Amino acid sequence: MSVKDKIVELLHKELSEHLDKDQLSRLIEKPSNSELGDYAFPVFSLAKIFRKAPNAIAEELAAKLDPSGFEKVQVVGAYINFFIEKGAHGNSVIGEILSKGSDYGCTDVGKGGNVPIDMSSPNIAKPMSMGHLRSTVLGESIAKILAKINYNPIRINHLGDWGTQFGKLIVAYKGWGDEEVVKADPVNELVKLYVDFHEKAEENPELEDQARQVFKELEEGNQEYLDLWNWFKDESIKTFKKVYDLLDIHFDYYTGESFYNDKMQEVIDILADKGISHIENGATVVNLDKYNLPIALIKKSDGATLYLTRDLATAYYRKRTFDFVQSLYVVGSEQSDHFKQLKAVLKEMGNDWSDDMHHIPFGLITLNGKKLSTRKGKIVLLEKVLHEAIEIADEQIAAKNPNLENRQEVAQQVGVGAVVFHDLKSDRLNSFDFNLDEVVQFEGETGPYVQYTYARLNTVIAKYGKEVSDTVDFNLDDENSWEIIKLLQNYPEVIVKAATEYEPSVIAKYAITLAQQANKYYAKVRILEENDQLETRIQLVKAVTIVLKDALSLLNIKAPERM
Ligand code: ARG
Repeated sequence: MSVKDKIVELLHKELSEHLDKDQLSRLIEKPSNSELGDYAFPVFSLAKIFRKAPNAIAEELAAKLDPSGFEKVQVVGAYINFFIEKGAHGNSVIGEILSKGSDYGCTDVGKGGNVPIDMSSPNIAKPMSMGHLRSTVLGESIAKILAKINYNPIRINHLGDWGTQFGKLIVAYKGWGDEEVVKADPVNELVKLYVDFHEKAEENPELEDQARQVFKELEEGNQEYLDLWNWFKDESIKTFKKVYDLLDIHFDYYTGESFYNDKMQEVIDILADKGISHIENGATVVNLDKYNLPIALIKKSDGATLYLTRDLATAYYRKRTFDFVQSLYVVGSEQSDHFKQLKAVLKEMGNDWSDDMHHIPFGLITLNGKKLSTRKGKIVLLEKVLHEAIEIADEQIAAKNPNLENRQEVAQQVGVGAVVFHDLKSDRLNSFDFNLDEVVQFEGETGPYVQYTYARLNTVIAKYGKEVSDTVDFNLDDENSWEIIKLLQNYPEVIVKAATEYEPSVIAKYAITLAQQANKYYAKVRILEENDQLETRIQLVKAVTIVLKDALSLLNIKAPERM
């Protein structure tokens, strides 16, 4: 039981008639000044109930509480301040971390419930944008955080592999494309064809009609078109996988929009049968006025379906297949209206489970002021960003530790980790620009800084040279170690907060704070000095390495043992 839970228990014994445990838990504060204890309970909310001055209430209540396990329980004004008994607490926190290892912080909040996570989801025949990279990195971290509290994440790459743009692409390829040229550099050439199509279509609007017709035939199963489309798709996935491999991210499903091609009719029928949709100028639409949302287009007048139609079918499929407890869509904030419409239409259809679907939006990242999006040639750039980061990391390692054995491997872990960490450390809704040289620094609030701290502490443990026992007899009395214990003890709570808010930045910020405290400790305390506190200091250091490594792993970042 955490110390906070213990305080809740104690207070609840006396106050159960007036406040429940959740209310008590919300009232408990963490004083910023440690002279006011480690936790404090303000009694203001009891003044009305007991009709007494707050100070008197605090005094009387405190006198009834059993202080065992605490150094002291003290009243200051309207507050009851709880001071944790350091020895016992140190033993329990450090002992728990050392014995549980990477299981420290695991809880059963999710009870094994399925959570499909729609993440990455780039569009085929287009380069993967910075936005898709963000979705990938955020989605993976959210998956890991949820798994830590026993949800079962299911990673789904909802590729943009269907829609009228494939009509355009096929018209362009058949009109002026060259097989050999496309084979040599598929994604870039396909983008070129697409861009050319739009240029030509400005002079020759007929091309648009052709494209619509071709897409319609593709939907109806025209084999020639299907073969071309399959080829475009295979080549695109191969290119995307290079980035996924660098990031060490693996999907459970590559079910893109086309997968729902034969699953949309059911939704369209339900909408019509229940009288939710109606026909307007030949198109099938759902009015969403009462949700204050734009009208939802379900089927165009030529019979072609839309992005939204496929997402409706997708939602049904995921509910049936996974019986999800939550269903997440990690997609840029510019699609907020789309997901609101999706949920509103599902709700109109009578599906209360649409309340368990959550759009997890995020802001835009740019690199050196430039947006990496659909302009041609940019896919190379994204992979290039990661490779450049690896190079910068390698130079830094070469300067610091030239004889490192697995330097290449470590440079990859540090370079890629730096980009990922930078992406995850700010609140996901923030938009930001980044500069690679700053991101791959070993100092400052960076991924390499956290990794370096981890490696440095490992070196200390290696120098100690003995097995680190997990039987703890805590005997440290300095302020630094106490700050570290408090942080370590918070870790399980931090994970739950990150999971509830779908916010990996909570973990990233925590990792930075813990690394900073650990470095302070390293600078101030002679950790390896032979005296009767040596073993406890090493146990503390070991506990920090366990938690740092785990926090990095929740961000999908590796922790090299040496660097
Ligand atoms: N392919 C889309 C895009 O690049 C993202 C798909 C998101 N997932 C979904 N189920 N709509 O904008």
